[in-house]
Amino acid sequence: MVRVTVPVPGRSYDVTIGAGLLPTLGDHVPSLPGATTAFVVSDRTVADLHHRTIAGAIEGRGLGTVLLLVPEGEEAKSLQAYGSLLRQLAGREAHRDDVIFALGGGAVGDLAGFVASTYMRGIPFIQIPTTLTSQVDAAIGGKTAVNLPEGKNLVGTFSQPIAVVADVDVLATVNERDFRSGLAEVAKYALALDEDLLATLERDPGPIVRRTATVLEDVIARCVAAKAGIVAEDERDASTRLVLNYGHTLGHALERLDAFGGRTHGEAVALGMVFAAALAEARGLASGLRARTERLLASLGLVPDGELPPVDEVLRCLRLDKKYRDGVRWILLEDVGRPIVVDDVSDTEVAAVLLEMGASA
Ligand SMILES: NC(=O)c1ccc[n+]([C@@H]2O[C@H](COP(=O)([O-])OP(=O)(O)OC[C@H]3O[C@@H](n4cnc5c(N)ncnc54)[C@H](O)[C@@H]3O)[C@@H](O)[C@H]2O)c1
Ligand SMILES: [Zn+2]
Repeated sequence: MVRVTVPVPGRSYDVTIGAGLLPTLGDHVPSLPGATTAFVVSDRTVADLHHRTIAGAIEGRGLGTVLLLVPEGEEAKSLQAYGSLLRQLAGREAHRDDVIFALGGGAVGDLAGFVASTYMRGIPFIQIPTTLTSQVDAAIGGKTAVNLPEGKNLVGTFSQPIAVVADVDVLATVNERDFRSGLAEVAKYALALDEDLLATLERDPGPIVRRTATVLEDVIARCVAAKAGIVAEDERDASTRLVLNYGHTLGHALERLDAFGGRTHGEAVALGMVFAAALAEARGLASGLRARTERLLASLGLVPDGELPPVDEVLRCLRLDKKYRDGVRWILLEDVGRPIVVDDVSDTEVAAVLLEMGASA
């Protein structure tokens, strides 16, 4: 078991990572003297797998539990699901000292966190992430959100959980494609922020790909530590936190243009990192980075393939990015572990790299 603190001033909390944590959940969360009920927000799949275990552990701490089910995947992040959860809380007379447990992937976590941060102007919540993506990324850092028909994550808050418990055993049932999608985020941390992690993955990617518990614990803890440091410095996404978006600028555009390949988030980010590496090299930074990135991704089962959208479509989509203001901001690496934010990349440069990667004009 490893414990990583997210040292956000005034609201710091622990992330506990390890095997077999759910049955002893009560030992890994702070005590909640005023709480009478724990509201467990989850989806059908995850609740069927784990609700009984965590309800037992929570009840062992003297709290009642109520399970609140939400739709699976991205559908959870709707205004309708948000409104429905608020009304269920009010209907059950949830009070400000009660607590919400978000049991599920990033979608459940984003929704439950948003509900917790707005119901009665905010009640405590605990993240129990159950996918690799949510254990290394979504559950850490306090960004909560739901989607609008107009776009993803357009409504939300910055609101930190009081604890995060990541049990690596639950990852056994995550499907292969979702797991690999999470590995793309792991690769992001390794390339952009943690050279030791990169060295570990390059030495032998086998154990992580096979989901060996001890290695998962170590790798997830390092990703969490990398994110924790950055979130503590820049909770509200004003500056340094941007580096967590390595590979995501192009990645988001590719996801939105998913008529061209239907990529998962992780697959799109993987391609985004290859693109960023190629762009860095074209600018005279980071020689050999593209080949190294491709090797790493391939060893994790992420061979970026599928057709790229035409260059014009990508450029148009980049301009629509919600983070676009006076220009698209790219995170590039001067070398592994050394991210910089660059805002003077011209359309011509982007187009040249895309063409070189096989996109049509
Ligand atoms: N808040 C943040 O900082 C942040 C960061 C990254 C991603 N996100 C958000 O996270 C969401 C993606 O999260 P995700 O990749 O975890 O997917 P997800 O939450 O959409 O879950 C995908 C599927 O996995 C299933 N599942 C979850 N845990 C399982 C388990 N242990 N075994 C079997 N099946 C399981 C779920 O039922 C669901 O059907 C997106 O909405 C994204 O915007 C948020
Ligand atoms: Zn991501």
